[in-house]
Amino acid sequence: MCGIVAVVGMPGAVGIVLEGLRSLEYRGYDSAGIAWPEDGSFALYRAAGRVADLDKLLADGPGDGREAAIGHTRWATHGPPVEKNAHPQLSHDGVISVVHNGIIDNFATLRDDLVRDGIEFHSDTDTEIVACLIAREYAKPETAGDLVAAVEATVNRLEGTFALAIMAADQPGLVVAARRGSPLAVGLGAGFGMVASDAVPIIPHTRRVVFLDDDQVAVITSGSCEIRKDSRPVDYACTEITWSAEAAQKDGYDHFMRKEIYEQPTVLENMFRNRLRLPPAVDADPEFVMDGIDLPDDYFKGISRIVMLAQGTAYHACMVGRNILERTTKIPSYPEYAADFRYRDPILDPSVLVIAVTQSGETMDTLHAVRLAREAGCKVIAVANVVGSSITREAAGVFYLNCGPEIGVASTKAFTAMIAGLYFLALRMGQIRESIDRSELRRRVHDLLGIGHRLQAVLATDNHIRKLAKKYMNAANFLFLGRGTGWPLAMEGALKMKEVSYIHAEGYDAAEMKHGPIALIDENMPVLVIALKGRRYDKLLGNIQEIKARKGKVIAIASHDDTEIGKLVDDVIPIYAESGIMNSICCAVPLQLLSYHVAVFRGCDVDKPKNLAKSVTVE
Ligand code: F6R
Repeated sequence: MCGIVAVVGMPGAVGIVLEGLRSLEYRGYDSAGIAWPEDGSFALYRAAGRVADLDKLLADGPGDGREAAIGHTRWATHGPPVEKNAHPQLSHDGVISVVHNGIIDNFATLRDDLVRDGIEFHSDTDTEIVACLIAREYAKPETAGDLVAAVEATVNRLEGTFALAIMAADQPGLVVAARRGSPLAVGLGAGFGMVASDAVPIIPHTRRVVFLDDDQVAVITSGSCEIRKDSRPVDYACTEITWSAEAAQKDGYDHFMRKEIYEQPTVLENMFRNRLRLPPAVDADPEFVMDGIDLPDDYFKGISRIVMLAQGTAYHACMVGRNILERTTKIPSYPEYAADFRYRDPILDPSVLVIAVTQSGETMDTLHAVRLAREAGCKVIAVANVVGSSITREAAGVFYLNCGPEIGVASTKAFTAMIAGLYFLALRMGQIRESIDRSELRRRVHDLLGIGHRLQAVLATDNHIRKLAKKYMNAANFLFLGRGTGWPLAMEGALKMKEVSYIHAEGYDAAEMKHGPIALIDENMPVLVIALKGRRYDKLLGNIQEIKARKGKVIAIASHDDTEIGKLVDDVIPIYAESGIMNSICCAVPLQLLSYHVAVFRGCDVDKPKNLAKSVTVE
């Protein structure tokens, strides 16, 4: 995520950029910065924290009277959210200023190249590398002063994802922008130009917007805009924006929750694309990019037990993680509610690996449980979304989910990303410990790389799920059942239903039915059963028959090629997934959509359910 704003040819440019950054804070808000050309170099202001913290630095008006500026609000990926890592990043010679959204995969190689030229760095960011590379090109005799050529030469060397806006100190009337994989919009006004991560900061000034395509470069001055590809100008179409700024923040979705549900294919695909390499030779081992968690292999040896600490949705991800970790690493693994763990006098020793799983990184109980584990000498790592958050600072290494901010209070994209993150760690540990067969490891990595398409196929059932939501929206209660990894999914489905639609819901292991919950079944009780083909399928069919015999209404999440189950149940949601982990991730999506639509039909405040907060920083 991260938000970019740059303007040229606009009196009051500094104020306009700051206002644009505030409107982009929904994309990230851990640090912010702004720069403008001044006397052949850059005036640069950056602050850890929100745009409001940057405002304070500019309160005495140092930027008054500028016509061009470049700014950024950050969601950290490389390096903690401190001032030196905030953007804009300047080049070693101070001539180039860059703001960036995305991750440069080959930044280590590019950095080594710059180090050989004696260039020193002042931040931990991949963005500073980009600024220095552009500056080096900009200084070459053959391209001297040609910012466009310098940018084009540089982006051709970048691997990964980026949206970039760039200025040169000696050309205050020019902004160059480039994108691959991260969004970027150009606003065209009368006598001014803008670049931003989306149309939100542009709309108050002009409604004429060009959305850049991958590998395009935009050259923007106060009176012109050229779009280029492969170093040549190309034709482009201008869109007349009719939506409000609020609608634009939600990318056209009615709610952040729905937007975040729909982000899942991209979040997971990017996670694996950035972290997994599968060499083409059939007998070659997959390579794991342990960015953030690059601990020595020995760290993952000699482990007697794995304990996963979490609360709420994150705990459900840990329950799925238990199955994955045990099968792959052969180490006994236990999900634990952090709140219970910390007050239970748990038996711990240095051979225990603790994995804290958390979106916010601030959940009070998880934080204190982690501290307890550290005091007992355990190894502690984290799976987290918010870079630099309290829990990440306690851990020896962090697997960052890189989902971008999750604004809907109900966790959606972070849940599937947590499962994926635990799976990644399990596979890597299995590889280190040689507890997984090499060809099996290759097969699983291959599967993971195809996750985006499978999730898109699940999202294609959204209309069908909406109709089911309408059918069941007036239920007073809901039961969710599953077995194996379907059990935590059932618990998560029930939690989502409760928190956004306020319908009472319970999630159970289907094997528990006969031990109590079956007493609740009657014609008024909808029961969602996760009934994918697999080891426990026949048992699940047995459970379904028991429910039908008591007149319960059954909705089954079933394998897309299951032609029989429709005869048994009232409604079917097909899932296009085959292997175990894919099933868990793919199943989460219809559960999220069902709760979402039920909540919308019932008129609930989906993004801010009553009585809930996004991070629970109290006990
Ligand atoms: C439910 C939800 C909560 C969180 C829980 C832990 O949708 O969001 O149950 O999962 O409060 O929060 P994190 O992951 O921030 O530690």
